[in-house]
Amino acid sequence: MKKVKLAVLVSGSGTNLESLINAVNSGIIKDGQISLVISNKETAYALKRAENAGIPSFIIKRSSFDSNEDFDKYLLEKLIENKIEIVLLAGYMRILTKPLLDAYKDKILNIHPSLLPDFGGAGMYGIKAHEAVIKAGVTISGCSVHVVNEHIDGGPVIAQSRIKVMPEDTPQSLAKKVLIEEHKLYPATVQNFISTQVQL
Ligand code: GAR
Repeated sequence: MKKVKLAVLVSGSGTNLESLINAVNSGIIKDGQISLVISNKETAYALKRAENAGIPSFIIKRSSFDSNEDFDKYLLEKLIENKIEIVLLAGYMRILTKPLLDAYKDKILNIHPSLLPDFGGAGMYGIKAHEAVIKAGVTISGCSVHVVNEHIDGGPVIAQSRIKVMPEDTPQSLAKKVLIEEHKLYPATVQNFISTQVQL
């Protein structure tokens, strides 16, 4: 069967990208291939991970465009040019706008480091989500994979993993524990998602 073409959008370290690359190589993601990595940050270590894996990548800087929509329109052109079928956000720290959301409706997934709908939405990203979890004193946290729509972190959740928050946890220790779960959950969910698409 022809593999589904995936693009991964990143902004930072790219450990989730690495887990997706490993999952393609090991066959956990058996129906997809990562064809393209796009970063909005030139310093993102994720770009090095893409290079090491031999995956084409490029940088699109927000400062080169007049508006968020123009930025996303250019990104969209690149996705279409590369015949990308599914877009995976992996630590991508930008909010997507209508041109991109409309063109890839129900074809964009994101991994978020909390149990959505808790600790999601504007300002709740990366370590900030873990800081809020610790501050709230909840005893269970985790990560969620959701379909991306116009509501920030508000699209349908399709998978979650849970972990215990220990009294001695800090935002940093929690982030590490949640990342370990992210690296298992995202690849497995991506494969499930692709396989349901393929059957449609
Ligand atoms: C991950 O924890 C991811 O869930 C989170 O940023 C981190 C990126 O790490 N994403 C968000 O907060 C998106 N709202 P990585 O660059 O090592 O994959």
